[in-house]
Amino acid sequence: MNTLTIRRPDDWHVHLRDGELLQLVAPATARQFARAIVMPNLRPPVTTTAAARAYRERIVAAVRSRGGAALATGFTPLMTAYLTETINPADLEQGHREGVLTAVKLYPAGATTNSDAGVRDLAAITPVLETLERIGMPLLIHGEVTDAEIDIFDREAVFIERVMAPLLQRHPGLKVVLEHITTSDAVDFVRAGPANLAATITPHHLHINRNALFAGGLRPDMYCLPVAKRELHRLALRAAATGGNPRFFLGTDSAPHERHAKESACGCAGIYNAPHALESYAAVFDAENALDRLEAFASENGPRFYGLPLNDGTVTLARRPTPVPERVGSLVPFHAGETLGWQLLA
Ligand code: DOR
Ligand code: ZN
Repeated sequence: MNTLTIRRPDDWHVHLRDGELLQLVAPATARQFARAIVMPNLRPPVTTTAAARAYRERIVAAVRSRGGAALATGFTPLMTAYLTETINPADLEQGHREGVLTAVKLYPAGATTNSDAGVRDLAAITPVLETLERIGMPLLIHGEVTDAEIDIFDREAVFIERVMAPLLQRHPGLKVVLEHITTSDAVDFVRAGPANLAATITPHHLHINRNALFAGGLRPDMYCLPVAKRELHRLALRAAATGGNPRFFLGTDSAPHERHAKESACGCAGIYNAPHALESYAAVFDAENALDRLEAFASENGPRFYGLPLNDGTVTLARRPTPVPERVGSLVPFHAGETLGWQLLA
C-alpha cells in the first residue's frame, strides 16, 4: 500500500493558544483536520460562552489570514469551557444549545499548564456535572491527581482509582473523555468501562516512553503532562489505538511553548506535534500493520462518541520520506530532525 485515503480526520484535543502563537499554529491544525476540540487553558481561561465565542472568532481569523488549503476545505474549531468551582451551569447549557460550546474541560487545580483556576473539590461542581449529564454535553478530563506526595509516574493510575471510578458511579449518564491517556491502567479502565466513557491518545505517547526525557541529557522537548511512562504502557497505548475499539480516538494534545519557555530552569510541559500529526500516527499504524484501522481512529470514533456527523471529503497520505524541520518559527516540533515515512498530500 503506497497511498492511503481516509475520510477527513478531526483532532479531539488541541492547544491553539492565542495572539502571535495562535497565528503560527492554527494553520497547521487546519491543514490536517476538519475540526478540532480546542482547549480553554488560556490566561485567563475560557470560562464563559462569550469568551469561547470570541476565541473561536480569533481562531477562524488566524486560519483565514493564512488562507490557502485550510480555507478552501473549511476548518471548524469546536470550543470548550474551562471548569472552575464558580462556573455558571446555565451559561454552559446555553452555550451548548447555541452551538458555541461543544464540551467542558476539567483540570484538577495545579495538574498542568494554566490549571491554577481548575477544580480543587469535585463536590463543588456537582450541579455542573448534573447539567452536563442531563444535556449530554461531554466532560473532558485531565486525569492526574495533584498530590505532590504521589509519584508523578503514578498520578494517572491513582486518579483513575480515586477520582474517575467514583465520578462515573455518581454520574452514570455523564459522557466522559479521559484525555491523553498514558498508562495501561487507563487503557484497561476504558476497555472495561461503559459506552459513555472514551479516551484520546496522542502521537507522542505512542512513540516515546520516559527514556526519551533523559536520552543523552535532559530533553525538554519530550516533556509533557501526563508525562510519558514506561515502555509497557506505550505498548498498551499502541494496542489500544490500533486495536479497533471505537472508544479510543485521535487527540494530539499538540501544546506549543516557545523554545525559551521549554529550555529553561523550569521548562513548560507540552509537545508541539501539530505540523506532522497525521504522519506521526500513520507511522504507528503502519508499524503495527493496522493502516486499515487509521480511518476509524482518526475520523470515525471521535464524532460517533460526541454525537456529531462524520466529515465529508478525504485526505490522502503517501508513503514517502518526509523530513521534519528542526524549527517551526520559535517552536521545536515533535520528530524535529527525523524523517517520517508518510506524507499528507496537499
Ligand atoms: O503537556 C501538556 N501541555 N499537558 C497539558 O495538560 C497542558 C498542555 C499545555 O497547555 O501546555
Ligand atoms: Zn492538553
